[in-house]
Amino acid sequence: MTDRYAVIGNPIAQSKSPLIHELFARATAQDMTYARLEAPPGGFAAAVDAFRAAGGRGLNITTPFKLDAAAYATEASARVKFSGAANALKFEGNRVLAENFDGIGLVRDVTYNLNQSLKGQRVLMLGAGGACRGVLLPLLAQQPYELVIANRTLQKACDIASIGAQWGHVRSSSYAELVGRTYDVVVNATSASMRGELPPVPANVFARCHLAYDLSYGKGLTPFLRLALSEGVPALADGVGLLTEQAAEAFAWWRGVRPDTQAVRHLLTVPLV
Ligand code: ATR
Repeated sequence: MTDRYAVIGNPIAQSKSPLIHELFARATAQDMTYARLEAPPGGFAAAVDAFRAAGGRGLNITTPFKLDAAAYATEASARVKFSGAANALKFEGNRVLAENFDGIGLVRDVTYNLNQSLKGQRVLMLGAGGACRGVLLPLLAQQPYELVIANRTLQKACDIASIGAQWGHVRSSSYAELVGRTYDVVVNATSASMRGELPPVPANVFARCHLAYDLSYGKGLTPFLRLALSEGVPALADGVGLLTEQAAEAFAWWRGVRPDTQAVRHLLTVPLV
């Protein structure tokens, strides 16, 4: 019987996940379908119950339901517990397993696709919202020399850094404290690029930077990447690699076979310069 998967969110029309998973399924000869599900606000659990009752095997979760998905699970990974958010569910009888593959996707994109090591590096992350929490543990597992989280609302960065400290060298910072400091890798995990805004990051952070990574995707050269480019950063990336790699992780988790991501990444890439 054909196995059923879907992505659930609201809105959902914009999601690239059906295209990505259909291409993965074709490339790995999996007998499966992958649909879009739109649930009304407050309607996540009912929609997932109905999907499971109809034989659904797994879901990807996007805005605004990632926290609901973590709460719905019967078993959650450390990454889900840390971030409070899940972007993939797997259904096995009465068990509901929750995962968050964003950080693994980011690390895989940086270390494998972009061929840049994070070990021993000074990493700066801008933003202390859900995107930061979602990627933090896999980043720390790469053993950077330090990971600094800068946020306008300093308390949010302090809260994440104090919980994250048990997994690695992480600390918080205001944007003002970044003046005069340099980092090897700078990651934009704010939502500023979604609105064409630039976080108030001083240009000096890019002086020795060899990779500027914006977690948003499909926006071309965002104000953050434009600043990094003008400061001479040699490698720029947006989140298309993360998107594709986290999808491949979910696919492997569900199906037991990891698809190659290169063709899909190239298909979805919006040129940066
Ligand atoms: P997400 O789930 O995408 O991370 P979020 O939880 O609403 O979204 O968090 C958005 C993050 O982007 C926050 O860190 C926010 O900073 P504040 O906590 O100080 O609000 C950050 N952010 C959004 N717009 C920004 C901007 N123009 N400049 C700097 N930071 C911005």
